[in-house]
Amino acid sequence: MIHRPFLIFSFWLFSQICIAQMTPQQRDSLDKLTQADHQLMMKMLGIDSLRPGPSGNPQALNAANSDESKVRLENMPLPLIFEDGKSVKNPKDWEKRKAELKELFDREMYGRTPENLPGVKWELVWEKDTLIGSIETKYRKLKGIVDNSAFPAISVSIDFEYGVPKNSVKPVPLVKEFGWIWPAGMQRPPAPPGPSWQEQLLKEGWGFGVIIPTSYQADNGAGLRSGIIGLVNKGEPRKLDDWGTLKAWAWGASRALDHLETDPKVDKSKIGVEGLSRYGKAALVAMAYEPRFSIGLIGSSGAGGAKLLRRIFGEQVENLAASGEYHWFAPNFIKYAGPLNQNDLPVDAHELIALCSPRPVFISVGSPTVEGQWIDAKGMFDAAVLAGPVYELLGKKGLSTEEFPSIQTFLGEGDLAFRQHEGGHTVGPNWLYFIEWGKKYFGKGI
Ligand code: GCU
Repeated sequence: MIHRPFLIFSFWLFSQICIAQMTPQQRDSLDKLTQADHQLMMKMLGIDSLRPGPSGNPQALNAANSDESKVRLENMPLPLIFEDGKSVKNPKDWEKRKAELKELFDREMYGRTPENLPGVKWELVWEKDTLIGSIETKYRKLKGIVDNSAFPAISVSIDFEYGVPKNSVKPVPLVKEFGWIWPAGMQRPPAPPGPSWQEQLLKEGWGFGVIIPTSYQADNGAGLRSGIIGLVNKGEPRKLDDWGTLKAWAWGASRALDHLETDPKVDKSKIGVEGLSRYGKAALVAMAYEPRFSIGLIGSSGAGGAKLLRRIFGEQVENLAASGEYHWFAPNFIKYAGPLNQNDLPVDAHELIALCSPRPVFISVGSPTVEGQWIDAKGMFDAAVLAGPVYELLGKKGLSTEEFPSIQTFLGEGDLAFRQHEGGHTVGPNWLYFIEWGKKYFGKGI
């Protein structure tokens, strides 16, 4: 069994991937730029100080709560009640409520994706026939060149690759992951035993894709004046309701989807999105805002993803609003760790899941003894339960129980699925379950 050090290792790994190739001076100047931007946003919001978040280290004096008996849920907004208190009674009402919820998420949490974003031209980097496991695969790597004619000082491009079974006779379903680059010379973590997720998909006759979010928007506050966010703002700081990195990452996933739609080998009505952790948050945001994604596998997304922010358990709003993570959100979100708190947020995670309805969403998480409690598995489960009524209104099925299941129980009868696997901070062991469940929607590829 893998233990807590693995969890610490994987979080550590994420940060190392981002900073591995920097000199100490570069790292220092990046930190300074991030701090300066965070301070500027606080100033624009009229905030002098923020409440500090709890620690992710369970041994720390200020460790995040992991005691279920201390959790109180207050002031939970309801997805099927309009802001004026009227009820959402039918699918037509839901369309209006959806617009209301999107406006609230845009303004207060994830930020507004700008209209009229520059176009992207896809260029083929290479194409090859290759074996993945035992499956002959057509594999392509592409670069999406973003039109920067409005501000040539900033160049942006999107790295994306995908593979489909070479011998498929009809267009295939495809699941696309938000992935990351391993800097040269850096050792990858050991691959889990058994076939890779790509091979599992190919065996089913489906395709896979990997988009590199940091190729078009850096994962830090210093990067907000460049990448797609910086390009649109012509290198200027964000406004308070401007989009954060999660929305920008989701934008790139939609552009890769545009490209997939032009490939006759891909069934454009069956394209899914998957991600883990910060990329699990991005996958959920992409799924909620991009109706062309027809299924979602949301891995250990935690706070800012599928976990209810009103639950004082694991990671908190105060952590998300601090300088290390605020860039994922609109600057407006910072105020919920200042004068306001999580109970003042007009929305919560169950409503983000509800925005994905009626499309199927699988919420995945690891074991608390291996992955730790920072992710808050129950907070994500409860959010999925609370999104259920919206699925039911649209003639779909939510989770089959409201009771938090024991670990490794698969709740896959409905269009919302949940499973807490036996491993750590990975989607790994749940791919199998996701594919079995997904066959209901995607069928066999070949
Ligand atoms: C940190 C962060 C989480 C995030 C995770 C990751 O732990 O607090 O919100 O999901 O990193 O992306 O690995």
